[in-house]
Amino acid sequence: MLKMASNKILIRIFNSGHELRYSPTILRQGMPNKLSIIGAGNVGATVAQCCLFNNLGSVVLLDKDERIAKGKALDMCHAAALHEHRFSIKGTAEYADTAGSDVVIVTAGVARRPGMSRNDLLGINAKIVEEVTRAAVRHSPDAVLIIITNPLDIMCQVAWKASGLPPARIIGMSGLLDSSRMRYYIAEAAGVIPATVEGLVLGEHGDSMAVLTRLATIGGVPASKILDAEKLAEIRYRTAHGGGEIVDLLGYSAYYAPGSAAAEMAGAILSDSHSTYPCSVYLTGQYGVEGIFMCVPARLGARGVEGVIELDLTDNEKNQVATTVRNLRELLALLPA
Ligand code: LAC
Repeated sequence: MLKMASNKILIRIFNSGHELRYSPTILRQGMPNKLSIIGAGNVGATVAQCCLFNNLGSVVLLDKDERIAKGKALDMCHAAALHEHRFSIKGTAEYADTAGSDVVIVTAGVARRPGMSRNDLLGINAKIVEEVTRAAVRHSPDAVLIIITNPLDIMCQVAWKASGLPPARIIGMSGLLDSSRMRYYIAEAAGVIPATVEGLVLGEHGDSMAVLTRLATIGGVPASKILDAEKLAEIRYRTAHGGGEIVDLLGYSAYYAPGSAAAEMAGAILSDSHSTYPCSVYLTGQYGVEGIFMCVPARLGARGVEGVIELDLTDNEKNQVATTVRNLRELLALLPA
């Protein structure tokens, strides 16, 4: 917490309508980290808010609709005193404002509506992701990119091609969200708080993902010691269909949990934490898969993906991964060459 009286740091705040700037004297290493979020819809705005809550760095919220980006950024500025935000947010439609970002989070695209699968968005979102990635990377060639737009694993591939960056710098926010859903359902069933549950998923950010309840733990104890097989099967189903359940309820896509997961990953990258998260990364033979992005446990640091952890899978889980890979390859084949 920053208190002028107690630490005698001079804090200068310039309020230029939609932007707060704090004096660099309060920043740990002289320069704040910079995060740019492309797309100021529900997901983009929630990512921005979580990044501010977590004091990850200065945030640029970009949307082709400048008024939406500026309006949401100003709204978040109005909460800065209440949440003790230490860094600025700027709403803009200009890619020049994103220049020099350490992390770029791509949320732009059309969101799911009831009756649609994530894959129905492929054609339209591929064009959008290609365009915004090119523009963002032109201004931030050293950034790590976190992709959220659906169908997520395929959009990682699109962003990678459009960016010209090494694949380690493209990471899809998929498994952290999906595993967080699983952790919630396990916690709810076991009557514990979700943060005491650990676990992960593998594969596509879609119905065919492999939800690894077998490896989930509750306070270090295998979840299978506490919950019966029927309950765990139900949790696997609800996890894999969690996004769809929300679309059916709301009429549009989830954003609180996706936004939180993306900000968590951005924090791991910016702090060079070397933490392991389930997320969509480019595979070069791990799990017997080559040349596609898919969710696996991966270690994240300042340069992006540092490594993939290979788990020993049961035959059943291997079959699920094979199904998910088949789905992803079929979708990739639909992309224009
Ligand atoms: C979901 C969307 C973000 O899973 O893909 O809710």
